[in-house]
Amino acid sequence: MAITLVQGSFILAGLLFILSLAGLSKHTTAEGGNRYGMLGMAAALIITVFAAVIGIDAAGEAYDRTGSGATGFGLMALAMVIGAVIGIWKAKKVEMTGMPELIALLHSFVGLAAVLVGYNSYFDAHHRLAEARDRGLPAPADLAGSMESIHSGEVFVGVFIGAITFTGSIVAYLKLSAKMASKPLMLPKHNLLNLGALVLFIILTIFFVMDPNLPLLLIMTVIALLLGFHLVAAIGGGDMPVVVSMLNSYSGWAAAAAGFMLNNDLLIITGALVGSSGAFLSYVMCKGMGRSFVNVIAGGFGGETSSAGGDVDYGEHREITAEETAELLRGAKSVIITPGYGMAVAQAQYPVAEITHKLRAKGINVRFGIHPVAGRLPGHMNVLLAEAKVPYDIVLEMDEINDDLGETDVVLVIGANDTVNPAALDDPGSPIAGMPVLHVWEAENVIVFKRSMATGYAGVQNPLFFKENTQMLFGDAKERVDDILKAL
Ligand code: TAP
Repeated sequence: MAITLVQGSFILAGLLFILSLAGLSKHTTAEGGNRYGMLGMAAALIITVFAAVIGIDAAGEAYDRTGSGATGFGLMALAMVIGAVIGIWKAKKVEMTGMPELIALLHSFVGLAAVLVGYNSYFDAHHRLAEARDRGLPAPADLAGSMESIHSGEVFVGVFIGAITFTGSIVAYLKLSAKMASKPLMLPKHNLLNLGALVLFIILTIFFVMDPNLPLLLIMTVIALLLGFHLVAAIGGGDMPVVVSMLNSYSGWAAAAAGFMLNNDLLIITGALVGSSGAFLSYVMCKGMGRSFVNVIAGGFGGETSSAGGDVDYGEHREITAEETAELLRGAKSVIITPGYGMAVAQAQYPVAEITHKLRAKGINVRFGIHPVAGRLPGHMNVLLAEAKVPYDIVLEMDEINDDLGETDVVLVIGANDTVNPAALDDPGSPIAGMPVLHVWEAENVIVFKRSMATGYAGVQNPLFFKENTQMLFGDAKERVDDILKAL
């Protein structure tokens, strides 16, 4: 009865996670998706604790060797309370713009957990086999014959993926929080180094399966830690969003590997869901940024780029005031707003929503063009605009709006830079070469809201700022939008 209940709850939690992912695929259903995810996780936690207390292992079989009962429950409750307190504190403290760093850091914990589970599983198996040998008993059923080789393979692969995820995520965290240079680290023959590490891992796996021993496990762990560091260090700042989502996928596979070691079906299902959805999101983002999926998985494979546009003389830029911008907007029939990271920093979404409302009330066609990697996390701009109650139907994706930019009177580029940089199309040596961008320069007038002529996230100069139909409106985006509101 209890076993059926545990397994039934695992299926229920798995289904809720699938519903959650389905909901998260559209912003109109995203809130529901989040709720399903929370319910699924609550069910998973409750049933895991319940199963441990009554002494059923995660695959639904009765067991007698782990810390079940009151002590086990006490320890788990303590771990959960500590985790929940840290989680709530971090979630309340984090700024929306700091989410990618936090996510990268959380992925590193999943990687570390998989490494620890792997080592624990290795020591546990080692200890039980030695005990059986000392007592002259046959090996425990889950480690008898070929089962021991399967277990060793699971441990080795799980620790490998976990260790890569751990250091890779730490490097991603350091790069995203500007504690480490976002420039790609290009060691000589870096592709060969990665390939060599992979081949070495395969050879060591064969040896470990034949004779599981601690030194081999330790050597492989060091190799995997270095590989994780190198894979992500070799990736340039502009490609970090894809890396974060790729690490999300790795953390899913690391969790699935831990699920195999712990004999936990739910962890395997959840890990596989995270692993595959993360890989798919990375693929979609690679397509959105004109990047090769294989390049990103292989850690900047052949991704050397040269010019950053810093030395090129693009001429003089022109400036405009908020009052002149208001005048231009009053005379427009169609306006497109392309927000970016600067809108998030300035928290300008509320006055932007007000301007939208005012202009629409005057019969002006106002729409938003959202680049897939605008801001610092997938869907960043959509969340901000939804928060400010901008209607969903006027918020369009880059592909939906790019063709209309040529027939637009005024484009307001609010705190966006890399995502509207024509060098991505015109300069093959640019670090963002090949990334699809919003063709804002095709509009009749382009107004760029930013505080200075500084570069954006990828550190490249933007020729858009020097085009004849572009005018710069300097200052904090929120203050400038407020000024326009007053003038309207
Ligand atoms: P960015 O290229 O990062 O440029 C943002 C611009 O906003 C900066 O040039 C900055 O110029 C301006 N800005 C900052 N604070 C401002 C303020 N208070 N008021 C007005 N302007 C302000 O932005 P983007 O076009 O959104 O591109 C996103 C970049 O981030 C891409 O390179 C992307 O690859 C990367 N990235 C994206 C993600 C995801 S998933 N979205 C994750 C990590 C990285 P000033 O300093 O002169 O004001």
